[in-house]
Amino acid sequence: MLVLGIESSCDETAAAVVSHDKKLLSSVVYSQAEHQVFGGVVPEIAARAHLQKVGSVVHSALDQARISFQDLDAVAASAGPGLIGGVIVGVMTAKAIAAVHHLPFIAINHLEAHALTPRLTQDVPFPYLLLLTSGGHCQILIAEGIGKFKKLGATVDDAAGEAFDKVAKMMELGYPGGPKVEQYALNGNADRFDFPRPMVGKPGCDLSFSGLKTAVRRAIEDFSEDGILEHAVLSEQDKADLCACFQRAVLESLCSRVKNAIKLFKTQYPEGTHLVVAGGVAANQALREALENLAKKYKLTFAAAPMNLCTDNGAMVAWAGMEHFLAGMSDPLDFSPRPRWPLDPTSKR
Ligand code: KG4
Ligand code: ZN
Repeated sequence: MLVLGIESSCDETAAAVVSHDKKLLSSVVYSQAEHQVFGGVVPEIAARAHLQKVGSVVHSALDQARISFQDLDAVAASAGPGLIGGVIVGVMTAKAIAAVHHLPFIAINHLEAHALTPRLTQDVPFPYLLLLTSGGHCQILIAEGIGKFKKLGATVDDAAGEAFDKVAKMMELGYPGGPKVEQYALNGNADRFDFPRPMVGKPGCDLSFSGLKTAVRRAIEDFSEDGILEHAVLSEQDKADLCACFQRAVLESLCSRVKNAIKLFKTQYPEGTHLVVAGGVAANQALREALENLAKKYKLTFAAAPMNLCTDNGAMVAWAGMEHFLAGMSDPLDFSPRPRWPLDPTSKR
């Protein structure tokens, strides 16, 4: 069986084909460079770029997989949460393909697509503990099954990826900031600046990054004569040290909260075996290593999507679509895209 997945909820226009036996037949990702000059995603520009690219990206995904629409068993699209203009483009495309070729349409929650991706490449049974950390979201959840998530905690302000992007912007490192900060951090001294570790030592699993971001801003402002961020003069070493200290603070904060979550998970789900990290920030090598060590300490198996499937892509949508399809789940063609779509609707935040 084959499912086509379409992703367009942020700044990647992507499509992929996966099979029921976990073969990734194709994966095409067009990353919109249009936003780089703005240091962040501009929703209207994103929606127009999705509209321009979605057709060719879908056709490339089919070509690479050496199949045609007739070979598909279902078509899935990210239907939220995300920037609504882009989401509509992907959903309408998927619905049109479904209508013309008489295929089931599957509306996928973008966050669930991230959350299920490690099941495409590894054997990860439910229930598992999940750190979901991207540009727009930062949550700790228990994945109980398809469409079934229990939220243990979430950021009270910025997402971790957003903090990476903003810190990169302060130093004019480019967008997206995560990979740039990680690269700089490799050559930096992580002891030079004393940044706060948000939430560390407090009970619960909520997260916070805005105080840390402000601390980095202050440290950069100290490099200018008049205290104005834009006037700061930073050497390459200063940038590397700032990145290393910021990244270490993020990692320590994330790990401390995941540690609390592991304790809850182990008591509530003694049969659970895996700690999973998903979302764009999961591409951070230092974070993967830190979580892997944490998992080992608590006798859990660590799992993460391969690097190229951490940031937004079509394979994660196609695979989540396949999981839904195999469970007999599909959606009506009048399904409305959902700009907000929590994984755990019972949770307050
Ligand atoms: O999942 P994603 O592609 O889009 C959203 O759904 O938000 O995540 C993008 C986010 C960006 O904030 C980006 O800076 C961050 O993931 N990111 C990273 C790394 N690669 C991407 N953050 C830290 N280290 C990385 N290597
Ligand atoms: Zn994402």
